[in-house]
Amino acid sequence: MDDDLRSELADLVRAVHAYVAWHGESGSVGFPRDRSAREPREAPHELPHESFATPRPPPVAFVDPAFRAPSPAGPPPPFSPHLFDEPEPVPRVTKPKIPVPAPPPPGEARDKHVHLPRIEAEVQSCAKCRLHETRTNTVFFRGNPDSPLVFVGEGPGADEDASGKPFVGRAGQLLDKMIGAMGLDPERDVYICNIVKCRPPGNRRPEPDEVAACIPYLHEQLDLVAPKVIVALGNTALASLLGTSMPITKVRGTWKLYRGTTMLMPTYHPSFLLRPTSNLAESKRQAWEDLQAVMKELGLALPQKR
Ligand code: URA
Ligand code: SF4
Repeated sequence: MDDDLRSELADLVRAVHAYVAWHGESGSVGFPRDRSAREPREAPHELPHESFATPRPPPVAFVDPAFRAPSPAGPPPPFSPHLFDEPEPVPRVTKPKIPVPAPPPPGEARDKHVHLPRIEAEVQSCAKCRLHETRTNTVFFRGNPDSPLVFVGEGPGADEDASGKPFVGRAGQLLDKMIGAMGLDPERDVYICNIVKCRPPGNRRPEPDEVAACIPYLHEQLDLVAPKVIVALGNTALASLLGTSMPITKVRGTWKLYRGTTMLMPTYHPSFLLRPTSNLAESKRQAWEDLQAVMKELGLALPQKR
């Protein structure tokens, strides 16, 4: 088979697999949900594309290539059926303190690569609300500050507090799979952060006064990252970013404007998609629909329809 045809066929198989994996997992198109069929960990590695010699190209030319760190591990695998597997425990670390950079001369354009670390350093020693008393680490961001796509969650959980990075626990693993299903790499192609930067004890919702104390950091963060699209994950992100009290179930899937300028798509928080609710399959289908609207807005290739 000639190389072009082989590579085209490999791309097609991968696209179909990502699509089928998502739908199979959501149960929305009647794929067998026999648990035993999901047991072997090797299953995702038995994909036909593994046997193609042509390496997978990067998912999309999405972020300025100058800021693409070469990823030695290669792109992530397609959307996996192991959504409910228990993740590895996240080791507890204490993040090194970021040295506070000197302020730029007055009048100089704000460079995100100077100012984001400045804000992160400020957050590390912040005591503006009671959440500082119980934190191990502050949690500022992960991903690429040059990305046109930002995901905003609620606040750190135990795993995030332990590691100092957002969305590294169970919900984070699902978020990474959702981002992977969009054909994107969570570390290279998107920017991920939260409404509050310190963990609310017992994973409770942040109180309104805690959100009020913390959200100026996020507004500054978003101003500097200046994405084209923000995805608000769940009720807290939606309410805090837009000042609305409409529930996510009503608002999800409809475009909003953040501060009158930036396209914002509200969708379900991945933790909600991990809870056994009566219409979980439908909620997952809706979340995928919302992410596809985001892909369309950003000009990303949509998965092939079957
Ligand atoms: N949930 C969130 O909202 N944010 C995290 O960082 C982790 C879980
Ligand atoms: Fe400061 Fe925000 Fe942490 Fe509260 S949650 S202490 S405002 S960084």
